[in-house]
Amino acid sequence: MGVGELKLLFWTLSMLSSVLFSMGFVPKDNYLIDCGSPINTTVSNRVFLADNSQYLKTQGDILANTSNSITSTNASRLYQTARIFEGTTSYSFPISLQGRHWIRLYFLPFQYQNYNMSTAMFSVTAQNFVLLSTFQPQNGSVFKEYSLNVTSDNLVLTFTPAVNSFAFLNALEVVSVPDTLITDGAQTVNPSGSFQGLLGEALETVWRVNMGGPMVSALNDTLGRTWVTDGNFLLNQNLAHAVTGTANYVNGGATSDIAPPSVYGTAEEMNSVNSTNPNFNVTWKFNVDAGFQYLIRFHFCDIVSKSLNMLYFNVFVNSWVVAQDLDLSDNTFGNLAAPYYMDFVLGSSISTVLYVSVGPSTTITTVTPNAILNGLEVMKMNNSEGSLDGEAYISLNGSKTKVGLIVGLVAGVFAVLLSVAILFLILHRRRRLTHDHHSKSWVPFSLNGGGNTHSSVSKFSKGTITSATSELGFRFPFVALQEATNNFDESWVVGVGGFGKVYKGVLKDGTKVAVKRGNPLSQQGLAEFRTEIELLSQFRHRHLVSLIGYCDEGKEMILVYEYMENGTLKNHLYGSNLPSLSWKQRLEICIGSAKGLHYLHTGSAKAIIHRDVKSANILVDENLMAKVADFGLSKTGPDFDKTHVSTAVKGSFGYLDPEYFRRQQLTEKSDVYSFGVVLFEVFCARPVIDPSLPREMVNLAEWAMHWQKKGQLEQIMDPNLAGKIRPDSLRKFAETAEKCLAEYGVDRPTMGDVLWNLEYTLQLQEADAQNEADDNSTNQIGELSSMVNLISNEETSLTVEHLDSSQVDDISGVSMSKVFSQLVKAEGR
Ligand SMILES: *[C@@H]1O[C@H](CO)[C@@H](O)[C@H](O)[C@H]1NC(C)=O
Ligand SMILES: *[C@@H]1O[C@H](CO)[C@@H](O)[C@H](O)[C@H]1NC(C)=O
Ligand SMILES: *[C@@H]1O[C@H](CO)[C@@H](O)[C@H](O)[C@H]1NC(C)=O
Ligand SMILES: *[C@@H]1O[C@H](CO)[C@@H](O)[C@H](O)[C@H]1NC(C)=O
Ligand SMILES: *[C@@H]1O[C@H](CO)[C@@H](O)[C@H](O)[C@H]1NC(C)=O
Ligand SMILES: *[C@@H]1O[C@H](CO)[C@@H](O)[C@H](O)[C@H]1NC(C)=O
Ligand SMILES: *[C@@H]1O[C@H](CO)[C@@H](O)[C@H](O)[C@H]1NC(C)=O
Ligand SMILES: *[C@@H]1O[C@H](CO)[C@@H](O)[C@H](O)[C@H]1NC(C)=O
Ligand SMILES: *[C@@H]1O[C@H](CO)[C@@H](O)[C@H](O)[C@H]1NC(C)=O
Ligand SMILES: *[C@@H]1O[C@H](CO)[C@@H](O)[C@H](O)[C@H]1NC(C)=O
Repeated sequence: MGVGELKLLFWTLSMLSSVLFSMGFVPKDNYLIDCGSPINTTVSNRVFLADNSQYLKTQGDILANTSNSITSTNASRLYQTARIFEGTTSYSFPISLQGRHWIRLYFLPFQYQNYNMSTAMFSVTAQNFVLLSTFQPQNGSVFKEYSLNVTSDNLVLTFTPAVNSFAFLNALEVVSVPDTLITDGAQTVNPSGSFQGLLGEALETVWRVNMGGPMVSALNDTLGRTWVTDGNFLLNQNLAHAVTGTANYVNGGATSDIAPPSVYGTAEEMNSVNSTNPNFNVTWKFNVDAGFQYLIRFHFCDIVSKSLNMLYFNVFVNSWVVAQDLDLSDNTFGNLAAPYYMDFVLGSSISTVLYVSVGPSTTITTVTPNAILNGLEVMKMNNSEGSLDGEAYISLNGSKTKVGLIVGLVAGVFAVLLSVAILFLILHRRRRLTHDHHSKSWVPFSLNGGGNTHSSVSKFSKGTITSATSELGFRFPFVALQEATNNFDESWVVGVGGFGKVYKGVLKDGTKVAVKRGNPLSQQGLAEFRTEIELLSQFRHRHLVSLIGYCDEGKEMILVYEYMENGTLKNHLYGSNLPSLSWKQRLEICIGSAKGLHYLHTGSAKAIIHRDVKSANILVDENLMAKVADFGLSKTGPDFDKTHVSTAVKGSFGYLDPEYFRRQQLTEKSDVYSFGVVLFEVFCARPVIDPSLPREMVNLAEWAMHWQKKGQLEQIMDPNLAGKIRPDSLRKFAETAEKCLAEYGVDRPTMGDVLWNLEYTLQLQEADAQNEADDNSTNQIGELSSMVNLISNEETSLTVEHLDSSQVDDISGVSMSKVFSQLVKAEGR
């Protein structure tokens, strides 16, 4: 059979099918009831029968009517009467053809005798599915549409009033749905794949929208559906332009039962008239309930192209691309204006909004870039409890928690945190005034340091008070992190470490995060991972990158950190186009990171050794404040060592303490060595290992020590710093770095000493010209050293008590700079 004959066959088939479908669908089961009404009511050519209690299993319910004229919709007459159920009541409809059926419910509360229907509260179930749970229709008319596959000879619909309440119903439909409407499979949005099992799903129509066209009533829809207009959902109405055409039901896969011509014959396209740049999306925003999966059906029909190959576009759900460079004619055997639809299943999330976007292809250029959408349906899928309402559970912390409950609790916890924080600040201030350093037990729990991460920690806290205040961060559902990182988009990778890749991410509330996804490990690895998190969560400091939370679903091991806007120190030194840092900025970054490391070494009973100190692990925030990242991960467990060290040794070559190398014994002084290398790196602004250089220059530590021994380190300084460093500041800095690189750990200073020396270096740089300091007075330095120890002891003890470490840090910062400025002045005299 040739191509021509094939086309002819398709043409014949399609003509045949369009003839068949143009006759419209005749439902085998078609129960329409105007509840409480003594007469038949015709709405949109459909007859809703008078309510004769025929299908009710129980009798004696109350028929209610109202004289209120209800005129807002064509269905208004259905709302004029109702049936009131005082106890649990079931309808039972004989089903002549099993399969999917619509269940449509109409509600409008009014006062009838002693029954104020606005106070009614009840649940509705069908088969084994919960359609409505503790439902309270209070504000005007409510229309609900469900569809489910009836697999028995009767459909039983049950109304159950809440205690001391009653139920009511104004009208009801139970109608057969053509088998072709919902098929078993769909594509999944994220991760992209395929979904099977839609036939068994109960669905609730949440949104059904006709893009770029008028409202389509049940009258104009073969399946009695209503399609609303899209204007209210458009994020930016000016970006969209409505077009009208004629749908030609050939070979698109869609029939007029899938959607009527009035849906496929209109569309929203890109409004390029108002735009000089044709590269934008048209986006619609829909409210949805959190915690449910959704079936999203896109309706397309290319009524805009004059010929083939004029329209290639992308389709997005939230931030995920679901169709790329979509050419509709590929799916319609080259027919233009042929209706076509696509189904996607969106996994459950904690989000209450759904974004749908279309935008032009970015890879295929056409004369007029464009994108279209003709119609959209959003259908809620029953959850694992068989429910479509209220009982929305999302799994957090292993146990199931009701979404509403979480929101409430989180709000409560947040309020408590806030008031405790305020109380703390007040008391803290008072405490500082009275110099009382002894009250230790009044702060009930940690107020983790670190400004903007705070809200996200609290907002996503686990569902109970106790766990929300525990030291562990938030346990993220995996889907939330998939969403935050655009499904671990490779182009969102901001770093790769021994533990795994680091992705940039954006949480639902807009908080930027760094998401570190570990290479999957064994069960044992997971247990250690949890211990690790517990350990890490205890370390909160202004100069340590905060852990916001983690995910340990399945074999995933993911850590979520605060996002540092300005990236790594390394990037600011070389290899990028970032502006060169001033000497003062460099010193402040060194001081900040020294504080972070000092805290790691002394902040708890057992010192934490970073093991991977390097400029790539020192991050800077939007104010160029330094924070140490990646600490602790290597601390426990042989499993971690395997993954970590194998790559870490390689990655950190050039920073490695030679003594550690020789003796395989790790101490805090190994970090000091590495930090010394960082100091030289900061001074010279070159990689610590640069194989492209002559042999003696390859290793920065060796090269710098060579010049430092000669007392001529300035020979190899970053040219950007030339003439900008005061000689005494330079000398102090060079000495400090040199001491860090001492061959034996015992000869190296502690991080506290290093910190002190760097603070001093900065003061020397800042000192007035006439207050030229002479820093050879070791005596004074000794005295100061003990003062600093005092201060840093205070810092340590306070932080271990879990007080707000940022406050503490401020105290020490202030005191130290005071001390130094006094010193510098004293020396100047
Ligand atoms: C309502 O319509 C049905 C079928 O069309 C008919 O059998 C019935 O008698 C009508 N009832 C009333 C009250 O008009
Ligand atoms: C309601 O539908 C009927 C068809 O059953 C139509 O004649 C009538 O004009 C509609 N009324 C309104 C207010 O749209
Ligand atoms: C309600 O129905 C009863 C019986 O059919 C009728 O007598 C009464 O007038 C109706 N009331 C209203 C407010 O329509
Ligand atoms: C209804 O469910 C049964 C059993 O799962 C399945 O065989 C049948 O195809 C379904 N029918 C429809 C129309 O979904
Ligand atoms: C019915 O109950 C609602 C909600 O409790 C209340 O606002 C309204 O005033 C009541 N209506 C009458 C007529 O009592
Ligand atoms: C009804 O409206 C009131 C005020 O507009 C709102 O507070 C309440 O939540 C609404 N109830 C429902 C069930 O939508
Ligand atoms: C609805 O159908 C009627 C005829 O049945 C037609 O005249 C009208 O234009 C249709 N409306 C829309 C919005 O398609
Ligand atoms: C262009 O945008 C303006 C407002 O930004 C709007 O008033 C106007 O209607 C738009 N023009 C078109 C053709 O959509
Ligand atoms: C369209 O939206 C998607 C998903 O949010 C986004 O990734 C893409 O950058 C947007 N395109 C344009 C041109 O804004
Ligand atoms: C919906 O309910 C069916 C039948 O109880 C069940 O098989 C299915 O897994 C449920 N859907 C989801 C998404 O849990």
